[in-house]
Order: sequence, then structure tokens, then C-alpha cells
Amino acid sequence: MEFGFHMPVDLIFGTGAVSNNAKKLVLGSKALIVTGRNSARISGALDDVVSVLTSENIDYYVFDGVMNNPTLENVSKGASFGRENGADFIIAIGGGSPMDAAKAIAALMTNDMNPIDLISTVPKNQSLPIAAIPTTSGTGSEVTPYSILTVHSMNTKKNFYSPSSFPRVAFADPAYTYSLPYEITLDTAFDAFSHLLESYLSKRSNYFNDVIAIEGMKAFAECMDALNTGEITEKTRESLMYSSCLGGVAITHTGTTIIHAMGYSLTYFKGYSHGRANAMLIGSYLDFNRTAQPEKVEKVLSILGFESIDEVDKYFMVGMDKRPVLDDGEIDKFTGLAMGQGSVMQNPRTVKADDINKLYRELFGGKG
Ligand SMILES: [Fe+2]
Repeated sequence: MEFGFHMPVDLIFGTGAVSNNAKKLVLGSKALIVTGRNSARISGALDDVVSVLTSENIDYYVFDGVMNNPTLENVSKGASFGRENGADFIIAIGGGSPMDAAKAIAALMTNDMNPIDLISTVPKNQSLPIAAIPTTSGTGSEVTPYSILTVHSMNTKKNFYSPSSFPRVAFADPAYTYSLPYEITLDTAFDAFSHLLESYLSKRSNYFNDVIAIEGMKAFAECMDALNTGEITEKTRESLMYSSCLGGVAITHTGTTIIHAMGYSLTYFKGYSHGRANAMLIGSYLDFNRTAQPEKVEKVLSILGFESIDEVDKYFMVGMDKRPVLDDGEIDKFTGLAMGQGSVMQNPRTVKADDINKLYRELFGGKG
């Protein structure tokens, strides 16, 4: 058996994580808080952070302009704001968008570079240190080095990461997700599940990583009824955050596969949330990869408590009447963009453009 495992994030999980570990939040002398418009405030996370910084006598500046699916322009603006104010560490609060944006901002603040170069080169200088505080349970970004950025010049999302993009510390407090609306809870939980599933089936998976992915899928499975009915308890919130953290650790070691590669266009061009875009692809993904990983596909079915892939597909369509219909031009364009994502290489079954095209056509060709 041979494998490597590197997880440099100091992860603190549990209610009161920030307030109970105040010293760990202080990674410098002047903080740039990176967040979106609402979630940091509504969740109570921003209040907790400000209270710690005030009691520790740390100056801070708030950049609350992170957009959903942050663009290069957006992170560039955040970096300029941070630089103007002389911040020397970053506190990211929010869902995937603020945490991903913070990683790009942390790199741009220490490197004089064109933002577009983030996706093709590893920045020369180390990023500023980041403390990450998730307010959703989905992306797992608090424990990954990944930063998913929308690149308009390429009509898609691209992944930026460098060895210094891992948050230095992550505070995963399920209480920050108590106020999340049902739709976002569902979408983000589906994103977390797709991370666990894709990691488990990835060509880069190994025994050690499999244990993490399986544990995360089991935690997700415990929440499936609640996600279906919308009756989400605090215990469920805790399990969802646990599965999301495990999903982040899992994809740190394997990356994602074709679910993410194919889903990006459904978000970029059709406006579906990231988790929902992935969820629409999960059933077909299992079916397509069954021949490559028969035992693992069976294991996933048993963890989810289903006997057939049809049942899986039906579950992940909860709250949706049907899939959108794409025309031939869209299917061809989305196929080309999916094949341009590095993650297709990690898919358990080797994929060609024809395979991706066929999968899009079967799901979104308007025949189903
Ligand atoms: Fe994702």
C-alpha cells in the first residue's frame, strides 16, 4: 500500500469555535475580513469575529463585496482594498464564494500579477494567511487550497490553487448555518455529497481517502430524509457540516471529476446553483462509471439506502420538476468547456468528448 496525505489546516469543529479559540483567529496585526453582503451578518459569524478582534486589539477592514461565483475582477477589487488598508491577514466568512475569493485575494495581495495568471501559474510569493469560517455546509473550502473563480474571457469557472492557499485555520461552527434557508441548505449539501462521491470514485483515490469519503457519505445519508422534508434540526446541521468538511478534505487529495466539469456550464450559462447543477448529473455519473468501479458504485448505493441508480437520480432531483432542455449548439459548447477542465482526467472511466456529449444529450436533450 502506498499513499500520501497532507492536511495542513488547523480545523476547529463545533459550536462556539471562534469565541472559544480567540487567539487562533489572530494571524497578524491588521485583518481584512472578506465576505458577501449577508450571510456573515445573518449567521452571527461576523459579530463573533468582530468581538474577538476588538478584545484582542486587532484593527480590521471589511470587504463585503464578494459576489456569488466571484470573478477575477471581483477578487482584484478585494485585493486592492486590502492593500490600500495594509492588511496582513485575511478572515474569510461565508459560503464557498467568499472563502474562494479570499484565497485569490490573499495571493494577489502578495504578488504583483495579472489576476488571469492565477489560473495558469503558481504565484511566486506566499499568500497572506487565511482564517476561514464557513456559513454553509457544502463547498468544504475551509479545508481546501482551491479557489473556484469565474473567468468571463473563457466562459466558465476555473480552479486556482497554490500550496499556500490552504487556510491556516478553519472554524467550522454548525450554529452559523442554523439560519440558512432550505434551498441553500439543499444545494450546498448536494455539493458536499458530490465532492465525497467524486473523490471516492476518482482515479486518484486511495484507501486512506476512501475512509474519509465513506464517512462523509454516511453523514450525508443520515440527513437525507431531513433534506427531503425540509425539517432540518440542529443535529442535522451538525452532520451536514461534518460531511462538508470531510468532502473538502477528500477532494483536496483527489480533485473532482466530470460532475464538476459538466456542471460548471449549467451554472455559468443557465444560472443553476453549483450544488443543483451537480445534483442533476449524479445519477448518470454513477451509471456511466459503473463498469469502471462496480464495487464502489454498489457501496454508494448501499450507503444511500437505494437499490437502483434510478432511485438515486430521483432523490437528487428533489424540488425540481424536470431538467432544463439544451439545444444542440449548447450541448456542443458545454461539451467543449467540460473537456477543457483538468478534472475530467480523474474520472474513473476514461472519457472522450463523445461521452460527455452523449451524457449531456441523454439528460438535457429534451427526450427524457
Ligand atoms: Fe463543488
